[in-house]
Amino acid sequence: MGYLTFALAKGRLAEQTMELLEKIGMPCEEMKEKSRKLIFVNEELKLKLFLAKTSDVPTYVEYGAADIGVVGKDTILEENRNVYEMLDLKLGKCKMAVAGLPEMKGKLAQCHNLRVATKYPNIATDYFYHQKRQTVSIIKLNGSVELAPIVGLSDVIVDIVESGATLRENGLTVLEEICPLSARVIVNRVSMKMEHERIMQVIDKMRKLMKEESK
Ligand code: PRP
Repeated sequence: MGYLTFALAKGRLAEQTMELLEKIGMPCEEMKEKSRKLIFVNEELKLKLFLAKTSDVPTYVEYGAADIGVVGKDTILEENRNVYEMLDLKLGKCKMAVAGLPEMKGKLAQCHNLRVATKYPNIATDYFYHQKRQTVSIIKLNGSVELAPIVGLSDVIVDIVESGATLRENGLTVLEEICPLSARVIVNRVSMKMEHERIMQVIDKMRKLMKEESK
């Protein structure tokens, strides 16, 4: 039997996914030790887990370096990789939104060549060009996107809003909601055929656990 390989998004989501895997009887003790190791194995269960940069998780899964990935819907939408999305884990719930100064409320559609700063150029492009049919200028940033409208780099931002604290503390507000987000399980297309039974077992166990925990 070959290894079933998981790509996890480094950080809090990887920790939550590890807890989930432990609860469904697929623990990886090696991963609990504090180290800078990136790959972990459970020989008994023929399980391999590795930690990747969040935005790279769909890439590892598309190319089959991992059979299964756990990553946020924001990354799945932005990377747009050829993978199966199998399960909504309902972890890390938040939303993608257009945000800006309160005076922009209700005025976006009238804005000629609206400047939109974002870490998510594909999501922003899809929303404005395809859903709203509005021509905008997308400005790609790599973080602290809330700065952009404050210092005059952009009119609005497209970003993740969780508690809303970052927006509030910077005098910004949600102008339009784009979509809800949460962590999803993605699967490689070939693995889905070759390892169908093993993969579906994992998905079913996760589904059952979620059902029990929501009772
Ligand atoms: C994310 C997001 C917002 C913030 C939203 O940023 O881009 O800035 O969290 O959370 P809140 O609504 O609970 O305040 P992250 O912490 O990932 O850092 P970044 O801005 O450097 O990308």
